[in-house]
Amino acid sequence: MSSGGADPGMILRSVDHIGIAVPDLRAAIEFYTSVLGLRLVRREDNSDHQVSEAMLAPADPGAAAIIQLVAPLNQQSPLSRFLDRTGPGVQHVAFRVSDVEHAAAEYRRRGLRLLYDSPKPGTRGSRINFVHPKDTGGVLLELVEAAEEPTQG
Ligand code: CO
Repeated sequence: MSSGGADPGMILRSVDHIGIAVPDLRAAIEFYTSVLGLRLVRREDNSDHQVSEAMLAPADPGAAAIIQLVAPLNQQSPLSRFLDRTGPGVQHVAFRVSDVEHAAAEYRRRGLRLLYDSPKPGTRGSRINFVHPKDTGGVLLELVEAAEEPTQG
C-alpha cells in the first residue's frame, strides 16, 4: 500500500501529543525535564481554554508524539474541574488531522459529539476541537489541524 493512497475514510493521521493535566506547570516541567529527561520545546498560555501549557519532546527526533503538560490558569478553567474530579494524569490524546472542520463534521455524522461548534485556537497556531469522552469510551480525543506556517512568538 503506497502512502499516497490513504483511505479517505481515515481521518486521524498520526498521534500529535498526549495531554497530561498538572496542577503546577513549573514543577511538572522540572520533573519531566530533570527527572524523566524530556526536552522542553515550547511554553504558551492559551486564554481560550484558560490553560498554561508546555510541549516536551523525547530524544528521537523522528518520534511523532510529544507530551503536552497543561495546567489551569485560574479556578474557572475547565481543567481546574478536571483536576478536582480526577486528579493529575493523562487528560487527553491528540491526533493530527488534515482538516479539523471536515473531521468534526464526519464524526458528527458518525454520531459523536464534539465539544465545540467550530474549531478553537490550539498550540502553535493550530486549530482544534475535541470529541466528547462520553462518546469514545472515556478518552477525551483532541483533533489538531496544524498551522500552515509557524506563527511568531
Ligand atoms: Co492538547
